[in-house]
Amino acid sequence: MTATTLVHSAAQLVRVDADGFDTVENGAVAIEDGSIASVGPTADVSREYPIENADTEVDASGQTVLPGYVDPHTHAVFAGERVDEFTAKLHGTSYQEIQSEGGGILSTVRAVRESSLAELTDHLLKHLDVMVAHGTTTAEIKSGYGLSLESERRLLKAIERANDLHPIDLIPTFLGAHAVPEGQDADSYVDRVISEQVPAIASDDLATFCDVFCDEGAFTREQSRRVLEAGLEHGLTPKIHAEEFARLGGAQLAADLDAVSADHLLQATSEDAAAMADAGVMPVLLPGTAFTLDTEYADPTLFEAVGLPVAVASDFNPNCYSQSMEFAMALACHKMRMTPKDALCGATRYAAEALALEDGTGTFADGAPGDLVVADVPRFEYVPYNFGVKTTKTVIKGGEVVYDE
Ligand code: NIG
Ligand code: FE
Repeated sequence: MTATTLVHSAAQLVRVDADGFDTVENGAVAIEDGSIASVGPTADVSREYPIENADTEVDASGQTVLPGYVDPHTHAVFAGERVDEFTAKLHGTSYQEIQSEGGGILSTVRAVRESSLAELTDHLLKHLDVMVAHGTTTAEIKSGYGLSLESERRLLKAIERANDLHPIDLIPTFLGAHAVPEGQDADSYVDRVISEQVPAIASDDLATFCDVFCDEGAFTREQSRRVLEAGLEHGLTPKIHAEEFARLGGAQLAADLDAVSADHLLQATSEDAAAMADAGVMPVLLPGTAFTLDTEYADPTLFEAVGLPVAVASDFNPNCYSQSMEFAMALACHKMRMTPKDALCGATRYAAEALALEDGTGTFADGAPGDLVVADVPRFEYVPYNFGVKTTKTVIKGGEVVYDE
């Protein structure tokens, strides 16, 4: 017996697929056994998939149907909060000053080291509930708040457990080289990441990607190269935090190593963009980080100029405390001047590309996962236009309603 889900009568349906983007008035999507089976005008789709035969039926009258949002860069597994740092930042203390006084990432590391697997998992599940309520159906999550084999493994196991317990599909990234732990120096910590952490994490199959924070106050280009090469040797595809505060050459390193993405890129140049385009490295831009740090934003036109699309992510973490891809898209438009169409493609199909997902995730291609958002707006441009407001009304994951307001 097949199970059919039919979402129909949408004021607008946004068809994103590998070849492009178009909109359909009075649109419908049929999902069969969890995968996209038919997309188009309600009259056509319901001829093949009659409304009365659907196991699950959603009337989307007056609303917009879009592919589920894919968040390609988060640090959603952590313990504690950093609300006091938020207030300090408002009084003029910089992110780097907080970090050099043992706050920032290192304060989250202390909280994580005192937390059990069950506590980390519960905390993550609460954040995932907020993410799905804002339309996210697939998310990447990085470790990086443990900075020892034992605690990095616990973070990745929390992701693995949450993936089993929550409808959002989670893609785990190992970020052991996120900061230098207290009392260690960067070179010897990198040695430990390479000799202890990467092999163990890879052999336990706990991560898909290996990431590194290549920046001033974190790891140099050479240290980053060593970490990513070790990851590659153990089957972990490289990703990199590159050119966020200082331009250390992380984008070019990403190109040298055929990384799947280079993320942040606030200080990137057109040379960096050209190298990334040659190697097919996806730029992932995180406007929420610039918003909360009150810095300049990354420039998407650098990448556009060399024919590279751009992915958009939330960067949800204790410093950039927003789980919402709706807000990330709003900032991409309002502050980085991306069009609503580019922001939406950046939060769906290009975000999936930044995660090397090749099953159609982030699109309505035939056979893609049946993941979609019904937004309570008359057309898709309202999602970023109507900023600061939750537009997601219903979320379907693999054909099942997993969130309904
Ligand atoms: O992507 N830039 C490095 N890592 C995170 C911030 C992590 C934190 O402050 O806890 C980021 O912005
Ligand atoms: Fe990050």
